[in-house]
Amino acid sequence: MKEFKRYTVTSALPYANGPVHIGHLAGVYVPADIYVRYLRLKKQDVIFIGGSDEHGVPITLKARKEGVSPQQIVDRYHNIIKKSFKDFGISFDIYSRTSNKTHHKTAAEFFMTLYEKGEFIEKTSMQFYDEAENQFLADRYIMGTCPKCGAEDAYGDQCEKCGSTLSAEELINPRSVISGNKPVLKETKHWFLPLDKYEDELKQWILEEHKEWKPNVYGQCKSWLDSGLFPRAVTRDLEWGVPVPLEDAKNKVLYVWFDAPIGYISATRELTPDWEKYWKDDETKLVHFIGKDNIVFHCIIFPSMLRHEGSYILPENVPANEFLNLEGDKISTSRNWAVWLNEYLEDFPGKQDVLRYVLCANAPETKDNDFTWKDFQTRNNSELVAIMGNFVNRAMVLTQKYFEGVIPEPGNDTDYEKEIRNEIVRIKTGIEKNIENYKFREALKDAMSIARTGNKYLADTEPWKLIKTDTERVKTILYYSLQLCALSATLAEPFLPFSSDKLFKMLNIERPEWEKTAGFDLISAGHKLNQPELLFERIEDDAIELQIQKLLKSKEKNQMEKITVTPQKDVITYDDFVKQDIRIATILEAEKVPKADKLLKLLVDTGIDKRVIVSGIAQYYKPEDIIGKQICVLVNLAPRTLRGIESNGMVLMASDKDGSLKFVGPEGLCSNGSAVS
Ligand code: MF3
Ligand code: ZN
Repeated sequence: MKEFKRYTVTSALPYANGPVHIGHLAGVYVPADIYVRYLRLKKQDVIFIGGSDEHGVPITLKARKEGVSPQQIVDRYHNIIKKSFKDFGISFDIYSRTSNKTHHKTAAEFFMTLYEKGEFIEKTSMQFYDEAENQFLADRYIMGTCPKCGAEDAYGDQCEKCGSTLSAEELINPRSVISGNKPVLKETKHWFLPLDKYEDELKQWILEEHKEWKPNVYGQCKSWLDSGLFPRAVTRDLEWGVPVPLEDAKNKVLYVWFDAPIGYISATRELTPDWEKYWKDDETKLVHFIGKDNIVFHCIIFPSMLRHEGSYILPENVPANEFLNLEGDKISTSRNWAVWLNEYLEDFPGKQDVLRYVLCANAPETKDNDFTWKDFQTRNNSELVAIMGNFVNRAMVLTQKYFEGVIPEPGNDTDYEKEIRNEIVRIKTGIEKNIENYKFREALKDAMSIARTGNKYLADTEPWKLIKTDTERVKTILYYSLQLCALSATLAEPFLPFSSDKLFKMLNIERPEWEKTAGFDLISAGHKLNQPELLFERIEDDAIELQIQKLLKSKEKNQMEKITVTPQKDVITYDDFVKQDIRIATILEAEKVPKADKLLKLLVDTGIDKRVIVSGIAQYYKPEDIIGKQICVLVNLAPRTLRGIESNGMVLMASDKDGSLKFVGPEGLCSNGSAVS
């Protein structure tokens, strides 16, 4: 395997149009942070790059909806996101943003280099244009009737009702979101990256030279490459973004997916004047951490940009994760089906590591996975508390009790201690190998097995019994146990940085270097420990119940909103319609039907006769309130018997979204028997 001198590690730039949730953390930022913390412990030269992706149409739409500028939107969310990452210990060397100057300059220069090398194809095409507003319309700025399901509020790129992917030209009766006018087609020029021309080199580079990439990443690349690539427009007719640095490109900006990954470079440039060695030196290992929806951009498009710009290295690996679901459903911002990082910390203050732990233990590394609050509780109580917390606590409390918190001088090793030494070497090698291969779940299991080993050691040797007969042996056992605590704190640091710090404070030592952990002399005999505290606390049922209730509320709210308009029924003829004889009638009497809480028995004057109708409206109207009211009645409905009462006809009711009923009647007074048609 190739040796590298330094590492550039990037994590996908989240869109600054909402806060970040557990899906972001599990998919991208926790694994990237583990990787980087590990490299730092190994004394590697590494930079960890993050930032907000602040361009793109959804941000401009959100701004328009709220009546503020796009800059105001991204300012708001950039700060919220940045704080969440800091709170969770995501240890970026820089967290930048793409609306800043350095980025605009870097992205424009990058475009110009490709332009001057003649890489782009220029093409004119017809695009929707709003004549009243004098601007071209991005797909999301066009609405119309969905050609697939008939929904009237489909967007130019997709219909949210039926989920179909659309193109703006397919919409029936397209209208501009801005003016409401019918858009016209107008010619416009754009610059395209000729991906089709790069197909062979990409095939060679990925399919031949990077067979070691994760199967989900390799597989997605292969299917893109097998189905053939096409030129991709890298410019857009839009106002928000990096302006295209050409004379004949007024009101055009770089496509958000062209500028965003360049953001990694801009951020490095901001971080250090020595940025070029992190991007242009073959001895640098470039690694992109992303979610699966970003694969094509990071494996095919951005590498092509880097290669053809000419001066950059290509990524060595692109460890993309799959998606994390929440309690069996896809995480969704619009449905508020998510655990927001800022809210989590309000409900579980100080428990950053618990979430980091659960999200890593259950990370969607090879397939989509599910986060459940029950699993969160179990992993906390029976893993963090019962294994790691318990071991550390026992080792420290026993040392306090028998030796006043001073690490005892060990006697001679027995076979058991020799076996522990070997076991630790195996565990450590396992962690290294797994982290270096982006298998963070396995690595975490390894890290936890130090405390497992320790627990077993204490259970097998029972120092609390030996203390009466063999103090010397107890000294050895506790000496070893405390070394295991220090080891656990060191090797778990990439995963559980907050708890690791806390444990070092309790042990009263500085963090040892990773390489030193092979020996068993992390804390020396005679060293005084601090008072033990609980490393982790149990999480009780009521805290979990509260979270589940929170989610149930979102679900109920969504269901209410889902009940919208019932779809149109099958077409009928006029003859079908006129079969219904609907008349204006007046309610003469009304009373509750005994033992039927939904039914009222009405006596109505239909103009033709006075008759009894039983109607399911008792939840919405009191009998005394409706006497004298004019209503519409379907008079030629065959009689039915309800609760022993013969009902002759049906009262027409409007049923609202929530299922409630309201009478339908004439606008002004009408004579009874007037026909409705
Ligand atoms: N904002 C994109 C997303 O959330 C990710 C951008 S990654 C970068 O899907 F490469 F463009 F920076
Ligand atoms: Zn549709």
